[in-house]
Amino acid sequence: MTLFSKFEALRAGIDALQASGRNPFDVRFEKILSATEALLGGRPCLLFGTNNYLGLTFDPSCIEASVRSIHEAGTGTTGSRIANGTYGEHALLERRMAEFYGKRSAMIFTTGYQANLGLISTLGGRDDQLLIDADSHASIYDACKLSAAEVIRFRHNDPEDLAHRLRRLEGRPGNRIIVIEGIYSMLGDSAPLREIAEVKREMGATLIVDEAHSLGIRGKHGRGVCEDAGVERDVDFVVGTFSKSLGAIGGFAVSDLPDFDLLRIACRPYMFTASLPPAIVGSVTAALARISTDASLGARVRSNSGRLYSGLAQAGFAVGPEPNPIVALKMPDKESAVHFWNRIIDQGVYANLALPPATPGSLSLIRCSISAAHTEAQIDRAVSIMAAVGRELRVL
Ligand SMILES: Cc1ncc(COP(=O)(O)O)c(C=O)c1O
Repeated sequence: MTLFSKFEALRAGIDALQASGRNPFDVRFEKILSATEALLGGRPCLLFGTNNYLGLTFDPSCIEASVRSIHEAGTGTTGSRIANGTYGEHALLERRMAEFYGKRSAMIFTTGYQANLGLISTLGGRDDQLLIDADSHASIYDACKLSAAEVIRFRHNDPEDLAHRLRRLEGRPGNRIIVIEGIYSMLGDSAPLREIAEVKREMGATLIVDEAHSLGIRGKHGRGVCEDAGVERDVDFVVGTFSKSLGAIGGFAVSDLPDFDLLRIACRPYMFTASLPPAIVGSVTAALARISTDASLGARVRSNSGRLYSGLAQAGFAVGPEPNPIVALKMPDKESAVHFWNRIIDQGVYANLALPPATPGSLSLIRCSISAAHTEAQIDRAVSIMAAVGRELRVL
């Protein structure tokens, strides 16, 4: 037994994937050409497997703000905000985030993963109960491991099961904290926010919603599924990331609760890591300004997602339950998924291969994501390539 023996099954899994073509965990782009294209294996490839939902990674105003911030404040902060200080840019971005959501306070984190890890693990104290959706992202599960609270999973997107589990806690001490996502990252399905908010109200619980995949996309002002469902008042904390719609890296939490800022001296994933560098804070602030003032970005990603979803559904694929920026194709089995994924890359379309145990219901998925930057011609080309490969491999 060596230190690494426990990973032998992982190695065998990767070797098997590699033998079928490519290692999906080690795809190397030689050059990123734009928000929607890259060079892969020496050939241009359409990117349908990023989370660049609003296509802002090459936005001139974001790039310019990022470069300006480096010149003004340097390449890094070299430490955490509680030990090494807050830059004016951090405070400004927090003000802008709070304004965008119409909330009293915002806190920014170095990644979205840390935002969930920090907020959920810190709020969930010894006598409390965390009620999480079974299909939650790894950052939510890891937050539960770090928290002292009791962890209770409820069935995915099932408000009745949530209510049932909350009722069973009646008479017990502690705060009940519900954690859900606005849009789930594998199948692209939305949470039934109205029903969950009703359960939250009835049972006197706290509600945290991770809007990682809905910021800038859902809701009239881009505030996500909570805005779309008209339940923003019921949501105690919105969490999210800067790594998807805002085209950079980082995370955030916003809230109206008056003591929110106390978390700055209680939340270890905020306290014991370096703060976001100026280049990122600059580009994220500019990206937020873009989505606050330009509703066409959200409109475009929604119409692109409808086009991709209906194109793939009409071709005969089993797609996820609704058109969102994530459009998942359900493959009949793991082998077909692996072959399909390799073949579409050969033909110039990059999407994500998602296999059990990382998927809900042990599904084998091709996870496509859409961007406001995709042209209709790019979407139609991707659909036609996927349909041709589907016929060739008899998955259609
Ligand atoms: C639902 C959800 N929450 C949080 C995260 C973490 O975000 P980040 O990439 O900023 O760490 C992700 C990333 O995929 C996600 O899908």
